[in-house]
Amino acid sequence: MDQELRELYQQVILDHNKSPRNFRLIDHPTNHAEGYNPLCGDNINVFLSLNDEGIIEDISFQGSGCAISKASASLMTSMLKGKSVEEAERIFNKFHELVTDKLGDNPDIDELGKLAVFGGVREFPARVKCASLAWHTMINALHNKNEKVVTE
Ligand code: FES
Repeated sequence: MDQELRELYQQVILDHNKSPRNFRLIDHPTNHAEGYNPLCGDNINVFLSLNDEGIIEDISFQGSGCAISKASASLMTSMLKGKSVEEAERIFNKFHELVTDKLGDNPDIDELGKLAVFGGVREFPARVKCASLAWHTMINALHNKNEKVVTE
């Protein structure tokens, strides 16, 4: 990671770990899933409120995890509020390709915004699971599968 990205990465992780956005319950969620990282035993719950048009009207998370998992969940929920299910799936795919280093040489990651800093975790395989835990859980919540997700 170059110096500038490393600094940005640290800033973003610290900020969102200290004051995570959307770290709360939703009163009557339409969708919910629980995710679990077997490497560390951390878990996360993602709650969604989807309207009839398939728009994410509200999204939140709760659980215990490291700074990376919390920051990733915080940024994810901030980014996905107001998005459609299809957009959320597209952003998930892009984020997943970013952290697993599958984007190729000239990645178009503008739409990921601050999430781009998570590109740094691909150098640390164990951290990839931390960064993607909330995302896998969100995808399961979208499809309203209530079983536990285990990061692969
Ligand atoms: Fe548990 Fe990162 S160490 S989610």
